[in-house]
Amino acid sequence: MNLLQRVWRSSLGKKYLMALTGLALFGFVVGHLLGNLQIFGKPELINSYAHFLKSKPGLLWGARLGLLATVGLHVAAALSLSAANRAARPVGYAGGSAHGSSWQSRYMLVSGLVILSFVVYHLLHFTAQLPALNGGLDVRTLTALLADGTQVQDVYAMMVHGFRKGWVSLFYLVAQSLLFVHLSHGLASMFQSLGFRNHVWWPRIATFAKVASFVVFLGYASIPVAVLTGMVGGQVQNTPKTPTTATETLR
Ligand code: HEM
Repeated sequence: MNLLQRVWRSSLGKKYLMALTGLALFGFVVGHLLGNLQIFGKPELINSYAHFLKSKPGLLWGARLGLLATVGLHVAAALSLSAANRAARPVGYAGGSAHGSSWQSRYMLVSGLVILSFVVYHLLHFTAQLPALNGGLDVRTLTALLADGTQVQDVYAMMVHGFRKGWVSLFYLVAQSLLFVHLSHGLASMFQSLGFRNHVWWPRIATFAKVASFVVFLGYASIPVAVLTGMVGGQVQNTPKTPTTATETLR
């Protein structure tokens, strides 16, 4: 029996697995946020960052596959633990949930599944860049020039076009609120599952979880809000929908 099978067979093992994969996903969420906040700089900043990531396909695909496996394990462990909860007595995370009840794990499951649906939409929107989700615009035709003259995809303009649509921004804000709810409980549970729970540390951990999740929420929410209020992207013209005339440069 390999290590993963041994871990999977014990409910404590699955809780550790959830905690560790959750920690890795939190790391991604913070890193991704820092990357996206570059939208507050000159367009060239985020465009050269996106270009850099895409110019390293080995690294990019390695990270994508690692992320996919991490999400897969996190979701599978959550579904399996929740099924076990229903089949037996409520168990929550290692050490019992703060109130010893199972509603929190159900709540985590629902918010987690909605976030997962958001991520699928988000991947089709900004990674697969489907024209149907970008107002009929083929955003791959949006280009910009970097300082050294390299022509790259204009990811800055793609994001601005995306968030100018009120319903898209609203959907992102709803998903980010759920992410806040999920993280503020999930981060605290993660420490609990890893054994950090005593009278001294628990209140600090609970506060840290709430503050960190709120900072993440503010960071992500600031992007659609900044676009909608015109604080970001004022120089991006509304592009016609025909791909042949959609190419624009920001310099
Ligand atoms: C305002 C909020 C957000 C913005 C502006 C944003 C922006 C982007 C962009 C532009 C990409 C495409 C990267 C590329 O392929 O070039 C992307 C990919 C991605 N985003 Fe977001 N994102 C946001 C929120 C989130 C959140 C909250 C999550 C997760 C909970 C998330 C998860 C992902 C994932 C998993 C990818 C795929 C990474 C890859 O292509 O390798 N994003 N995001």
